[in-house]
Amino acid sequence: MLKSFQQRILRLILLVVVLTGTGILWLSRSSPQGADSEKPHQNAGSVNRAREQWETLLATQFAGDAACVSCHPNESAAHQRSGHSHTAFRMDESELARRLMGTTYQDASDGRKVDFALEDKGFVAKVSGQEETVINRVDWLLGSATHAQTAVSILEDENAGLEHCWTWFTNHNKLGRTPGQSDYKPHGASIDSCGGRDMSAQEVTECFGCHMTFGPAPGQTLSEVNWQPNISCERCHGPRRFHSEAALVGQAEQYKPMVNLKDPQVEMKLCAQCHRDQVDASTPEKDQIRFQPFRLKKARCYQAGPSSLTCTTCHDPHDQTSHNIERYQKTCLNCHSQPHQSQCDRDQQLDLATDNCISCHMPKREWNNGIEFVDHWIRVVQQKEGEK
Ligand code: HEC
Ligand code: HEC
Ligand code: HEC
Ligand code: HEC
Ligand code: HEC
Ligand code: HEC
Ligand code: HEC
Repeated sequence: MLKSFQQRILRLILLVVVLTGTGILWLSRSSPQGADSEKPHQNAGSVNRAREQWETLLATQFAGDAACVSCHPNESAAHQRSGHSHTAFRMDESELARRLMGTTYQDASDGRKVDFALEDKGFVAKVSGQEETVINRVDWLLGSATHAQTAVSILEDENAGLEHCWTWFTNHNKLGRTPGQSDYKPHGASIDSCGGRDMSAQEVTECFGCHMTFGPAPGQTLSEVNWQPNISCERCHGPRRFHSEAALVGQAEQYKPMVNLKDPQVEMKLCAQCHRDQVDASTPEKDQIRFQPFRLKKARCYQAGPSSLTCTTCHDPHDQTSHNIERYQKTCLNCHSQPHQSQCDRDQQLDLATDNCISCHMPKREWNNGIEFVDHWIRVVQQKEGEK
């Protein structure tokens, strides 16, 4: 009897992992009052059941990061260093809230003024533009501040969200306009409203889907969700409570992970869920460069053998980005074992002591406000293109 119960649970886990893995879970759970509301009678029962299953699963199958530390100290310590483990904060509890409290920020381009205050209902931003003032409690702060942090409010009454117009830029040590947002103009003449960019429930769920571990259960409104901040171990490895418990009695192998991240294609798909391997054709190149899987897939190094070059060939997925160029260069030399015979060496009289493969073949490009990303499309970059 125990056996069949376990099998049922395993099937359920598999389903969730597969759904999460394809991103379907995030998307299908996101518009409780959208498409579903057209046929409430048909769907109410199955939505309730699905919601119950999801809540049971969260309560019974996930162990949480703290449970992994004792047996996997290296991965756990590395994860603490990585932005993955601190990419979402409750605004009230954030360092930035303490810093901004009582201050005013003015947008350099359209003159909007934002006053920050801590009130009974939480951290509040009051935005005054021409002819309009909006006040919102700020709920979440996304980003570790390696580069930046952007604030988001959940608008309970509308089951929607707001991406605020101000963002913290670590390199400038001050606030600036949130990337992608336009100048505010009165009378609805701008795409973005006075407070920032309005987001549907679906957009909030997508946004949080890349910066948090679980999202809404089926049929939940945004304010009902018990958001689990950060990209925890089990966001990538799937639920691991049974594994942890079995490992305690020496039976870790009995619970193999549902996702085999040793398979290069599965791994690429996982990273691409958030780092993105697809972009709109209209996306300018400087924005595309942020999407490492999309760019890497264009490289001949990748295309020649998609299973031999993945994200973990160069990165430890648990750790913060290494800035050790030697280490990356070694990876190039694994495949291009005779750089001294390569065309670039002869033409450029390469001096490996000062030059490196990365600076020429994966050059940095500015994205926004001085933030730079290396281009993961490994190739011979034409000089002019590099200067643009
Ligand atoms: C009591 C010790 C223990 C705890 C707690 C534990 N693990 Fe493990 N884990 C092990 C052992 C032992 C292995 C190697 C077993 C094997 O080869 O399948 C392992 C293997 C793994 C693997 C590799 C599995 C594979 O087959 O590729 C992953 C991933 C993993 N654990 C993740 C986690 C996560 C995430 C947590 C916390 C939620 C966790 N573990 C908690 C002992 C533990
Ligand atoms: C498809 C997944 C995805 C979505 C949707 C998404 N992000 Fe991100 N975000 C990422 C990834 C991956 C990074 C790390 C790479 C980078 O900095 O571009 C990131 C980085 C960031 C950073 C910079 C963190 C740092 O300090 O390096 C901020 C701030 C941020 N996101 C805010 C947001 C906000 C706000 C939203 C929604 C309105 C959002 N993101 C939607 C995947 C996503
Ligand atoms: C961003 C996704 C991601 C997160 C978050 C993550 N892992 Fe992993 N983990 C991976 C990938 C990918 C691999 C396979 C890497 C490889 O084979 O080189 C892996 C491999 C492992 C292994 C097997 C290592 C080995 O040498 O075989 C263990 C154990 C593990 N992870 C534990 C953890 C623990 C514990 C946490 C949380 C503290 C965690 N992981 C968080 C992606 C992740
Ligand atoms: C659930 C979404 C998600 C998944 C899955 C994911 N990432 Fe990330 N990753 C992010 C976000 C968001 C950030 C930015 C974190 C921050 O600094 O705020 C990030 C940051 C990083 C960084 C920079 C870390 C640092 O602190 O320097 C690396 C490297 C990285 N990811 C690699 C990977 C790899 C490799 C995989 C696949 C094994 C992966 N990620 C899977 C969302 C994700
Ligand atoms: C897994 C093996 C592998 C790794 C690792 C690798 N490459 Fe390659 N690379 C290849 C293959 C295979 C080709 C295609 C050769 C061909 O088609 O003749 C290639 C092609 C290239 C080209 C020519 C591309 C073009 O579009 O003309 C450059 C430049 C290059 N690699 C540089 C690098 C650099 C720099 C690194 C390290 C950052 C690197 N490679 C890492 C296998 C690899
Ligand atoms: C050939 C080696 C190589 C491969 C493969 C590779 N990267 Fe990178 N990656 C780099 C280098 C080099 C940097 C820049 C390191 C630095 O800043 O010093 C980098 C930086 C990053 C960053 C940090 C961006 C930032 O500035 O915040 C992220 C995130 C990242 N890579 C994700 C990925 C993902 C996802 C994949 C798989 C699609 C991947 N990388 C594959 C070499 C690689
Ligand atoms: C100073 C800039 C520079 C550095 C540093 C550099 N390259 Fe190149 N590389 C070039 C240029 C330019 C070309 C194109 C040469 C041509 O087509 O005449 C090239 C071509 C290549 C090619 C494709 C042509 C061939 O010979 O197969 C490969 C592979 C390559 N480089 C690998 C590397 C590796 C590996 C490193 C690091 C050990 C490296 N390069 C360092 C500038 C550089």
